[in-house]
Amino acid sequence: MDLKSAAEAFSVDEKNLLHEAHKVTDAMETGIKGEKSSLAMLPSFLSLPSGLEKGSFLALDFGGSNIRVARVVLSKGQIMQTSVSKKSLKELSGGTIGGTEELFEKIALFVSDFAGSEGGHLGHTFSYPVFQTGVNEARLKKWTKEISFSESGIFGINFLLYSKLKALGRTDIVPSVLLNDTTAVIMAAAYQKSSKKVIGSICGTGHNTCYCEPSTGMVLNLESGNFAPDMRNEFDMMVDEQSAFKGEQLLEKMVAGDYLARLVCFAARKTGSDNYQVETARQLADILADKSHELHFLSKSVIRRAAALIAAEYLGIYRYLEKRGEGFEIIAIDGSVYEKMPFFKEELANFLQEFFKNPPEIISQQGQSLSGAAVACATLF
Ligand code: BGC
Repeated sequence: MDLKSAAEAFSVDEKNLLHEAHKVTDAMETGIKGEKSSLAMLPSFLSLPSGLEKGSFLALDFGGSNIRVARVVLSKGQIMQTSVSKKSLKELSGGTIGGTEELFEKIALFVSDFAGSEGGHLGHTFSYPVFQTGVNEARLKKWTKEISFSESGIFGINFLLYSKLKALGRTDIVPSVLLNDTTAVIMAAAYQKSSKKVIGSICGTGHNTCYCEPSTGMVLNLESGNFAPDMRNEFDMMVDEQSAFKGEQLLEKMVAGDYLARLVCFAARKTGSDNYQVETARQLADILADKSHELHFLSKSVIRRAAALIAAEYLGIYRYLEKRGEGFEIIAIDGSVYEKMPFFKEELANFLQEFFKNPPEIISQQGQSLSGAAVACATLF
């Protein structure tokens, strides 16, 4: 196989994409009935903000390679992150975290140091699939994004955080909301834009989307990274085969972060050469920025397919809402693939143009996972 044929394995056509969109709508229909579906439709116990919420809150964001904490002030649709602190998971752990108990001890210490003498309500954005039992509590369903800690089974996430804060004597810091990053993004966008016609999505190390369910007014987390597209090719199978969680998060493995780099690497090696080392999203971004790179065209095809699949997912969600007399005008997106991966933004906009009669507006929500946690907190008071 030459590089051109390897790239062809990632080509997309409208018929297949519309089929994927149709499958997304079907999976939502099945999921909302509580039947087995590749879309989990997880409840958030939150409805969209009115725009009138205000106050000062602590926000914690744990969901990928970095952990961030911030003080967020809300007033009249305006969000101000007055201070933010960030540590990589590696930095926080000193490279030795084995279990969730220890992990949350370190997170509690990080939050406590950041807060200083000023406690308050804390919104916690936790970006992994969870079984949510209320606005403030959830148990981990599974780890994703190739991250895993031991004792990862049953534990109440905010309860664990609360008990570790308490052990530090910080009962003045009160974890009040636990939410997914997509939910945080939709909350922040709805607050700033004073709009309920919005969906929230992450295109980064992981992928996922949430929407507001018309029958209940509650934000539901689709866990759309777990959607299983039919158009998987031999390289998708290889990436899945070598991943930590085989058979799961199949859409995510076609569209997110380092998986995109691995797809390029496997496809390039099919040409018979073992010289190609593309392992990280950053390496892939460099190839995409370099027109003369041997793998440029192949990489572009992989990115184009990722954008096409995500646009098809958004179309599937739109059609589900349309059947219920609703829709959306705004797609609020955060994540490193959307923000930093060359060509992704443009391709996504092109496919939306192709699929929608009135294409929704995309708004970038860079860093809003923290803001949305504060907005969520504010809706409770
Ligand atoms: C997680 C989602 C999360 C997404 C984006 C996925 O791997 O399962 O909960 O929203 O990544 O961070």
